[in-house]
Amino acid sequence: MRIIRTKDYQDMSHKAADVMSAQVILKPNSVLGLATGSTPLGMYKKLIEWNREGGLDFSGVTTINLDEYDGLPADNDQSYRYFMRQNLFDHINIKPENNHLPDGLAADPKAECARYDALIAEKGIDMQLLGLGHNGHIGFNEPGDSFVAGTHRVALTESTIQANKRFFASADEVPRHAYTMGIQAIMQAKRILVVVSGQEKAQIVRDALCGPITPAVPASILQLHPNVVLVGDTEALSLI
Ligand code: GLP
Repeated sequence: MRIIRTKDYQDMSHKAADVMSAQVILKPNSVLGLATGSTPLGMYKKLIEWNREGGLDFSGVTTINLDEYDGLPADNDQSYRYFMRQNLFDHINIKPENNHLPDGLAADPKAECARYDALIAEKGIDMQLLGLGHNGHIGFNEPGDSFVAGTHRVALTESTIQANKRFFASADEVPRHAYTMGIQAIMQAKRILVVVSGQEKAQIVRDALCGPITPAVPASILQLHPNVVLVGDTEALSLI
């Protein structure tokens, strides 16, 4: 694992955008696995800036997002599709038909998971972006007794509901279930880019990178991936 230590959030965002833009420049028809959450926002801003001013070209790029809340329509402002449009897709020259997320309103969850896995298998992810949940989740792969290979519908843990309630009117409004890409699709990405920021992530960064490989800390599986770049600020990397 390559660890890039940056001085603060801005610096982290810039350096993570450097890595992601290099991927797009080197392979203009890249398939990018993308993530939501607060951490990638600064990186997305940089990519938008470079698309507008520097000609970073997304016209051949395909995106496959990690996850989506169950029960939220695409036009709900808390859905991850809405988040991605607001914070990236609507501001760059990417083709809307090339942006893929799980369908939060799928009538048949099993069929939706199978559809998503088939899509990922067909496209193949070149670079997967990951944030890190406070409990070590990646996507919405929550801590558990075993790693889950495929896309699945998951019950969110109390810790995740509490962490994500800041985006909703109250904790009660946070959906209790979500669809998430499984560990297999994440780990089969050719490259993985992890972004972490802030003191509150320091302990889980340490557990994930230096602790045992265990489904109790889903991100610990990244230790087995041959091509991970982790970009973190001083605070998030303060314990490693
Ligand atoms: C959410 C997302 C994850 C994300 C995590 C961390 O639960 N499903 O993909 O990595 O939150 O978010 P943040 O970057 O806001 O700490």
